[in-house]
Amino acid sequence: MSKSVKKNYPQSLKGMHDILPSDQYIWEKIRNNLKDIAGFYNFLRIDTPLLEEAALFERTTGQDTDIVEKQMYIIKTSKGDRLALRPEGTPSVARAYIQHGLSHLAQPVKLYYEGSMFRREQPQAGRLRQLHQAGFEIISNADDPVYDAQTILACCRLIESLKIKNLNIHINSIGCKVCRPNYRRKLIDYYKPLAKSLCKDCSRRSVNNPLRLLDCKTPACQPFKEGAPIMLDSLCANCGKHFKAVLEYIESLGLSYTLDHYLVRGLDYYTKTVFEIFTEGIDLAIGGGGRYDYLIAMLGGRHSPAVGAALGLDRLVDVIKTKEINLLGKIKPKIAFIHMGDLAKRKSLSLIEELRVSGIDAVDFLGKDSLNAQLSLANKLGSPLALIFGQKEALEEDIIIRDMKTGSQETVPLKRIVKGIRRKMK
Ligand code: HAM
Repeated sequence: MSKSVKKNYPQSLKGMHDILPSDQYIWEKIRNNLKDIAGFYNFLRIDTPLLEEAALFERTTGQDTDIVEKQMYIIKTSKGDRLALRPEGTPSVARAYIQHGLSHLAQPVKLYYEGSMFRREQPQAGRLRQLHQAGFEIISNADDPVYDAQTILACCRLIESLKIKNLNIHINSIGCKVCRPNYRRKLIDYYKPLAKSLCKDCSRRSVNNPLRLLDCKTPACQPFKEGAPIMLDSLCANCGKHFKAVLEYIESLGLSYTLDHYLVRGLDYYTKTVFEIFTEGIDLAIGGGGRYDYLIAMLGGRHSPAVGAALGLDRLVDVIKTKEINLLGKIKPKIAFIHMGDLAKRKSLSLIEELRVSGIDAVDFLGKDSLNAQLSLANKLGSPLALIFGQKEALEEDIIIRDMKTGSQETVPLKRIVKGIRRKMK
């Protein structure tokens, strides 16, 4: 069917996807590994609402960022409140940290989350409007570079646990309140004579958000970047020392990294370390984050330096599928429950329940009546045993246990079904 033909049945919205049963095992694996890895590094789970006051993101992610300026889904209530579907998790975690007094927990407070975010992007490969992220945040009373390294480490270990290899961390420091204004001025001075040649977005950014000039992807703006001053030359002593320590930690962990002088990230709250994680052969970042030392105080909390990152789970799933990574491992096949006749079918549901309660993993074919069809399905699933429950067995309160490999059968009383199965499984 050609693309222009409008389908006459409902479709999911642009950039929003169903996750079908065939992919669920990948998502389950990611969520299980996230839980294990977060647990190992002592991150505690936090869940925040999908809807927040729009002002939360305007104040933190930043008015001049693409996310806030162009991509937020805003809902206006009848009372005049402006709400936003969360485009990212960090501002909500910061809000929850202040609102619930989490600063009273032992420091640092390490939190992790996973869920849907919403950005009204131009949908294309790897850019969704409902995206899923897993995030780590470390909030503390000190800006210790070890936390930057640990955030990066947790991200890399989660990605590697999914058998995604050859990671590269693009990393930069964008300084602090002390050194960034000076760098900002240098950038403005550098770009001023080029104003007429810049793309539309860059012309606007050169006034509002000059650091973003560095991550413009428009081909016409690329040559200008090459001569632009770099932040590392303008870092104050404190930021320089901090960045050096982060890099030393990363090196000591054997993680591969590239200094990326153009990496500034598209969110306003970052200070010092910023990074993005890539894997070989895929152009889009599979994760990104950085330090945000002023965010909690900006929202009214006490000064609490923090660092965090989020992984794009949809992109991880894409990588796993594109690279044909097998995450399944060995699946234990289930025991097949085969019924024949009306009486047996009527008794089957409660019998299968008894098996479930006793910890026996069974699959039934209650929608199929033919014995051959059911046996053939059992064979396809690789069931080691089949339980055959027919009219005679239903009347005599027993069941046949069939070894699917040898074909040998044994009839056991229903009362001893669990024992019989366990004996056969040995
Ligand atoms: P972010 O770079 O905007 O950072 O998003 C993190 C990751 O989410 C990206 O690296 C990418 O893998 C994925 N992602 C972003 N946008 C999309 C999209 N439209 N479609 C598919 N995947 C996408 C943040 O969100 C920060 N909150 C990270 C952070 C946590 N910084 C500090 N703490």
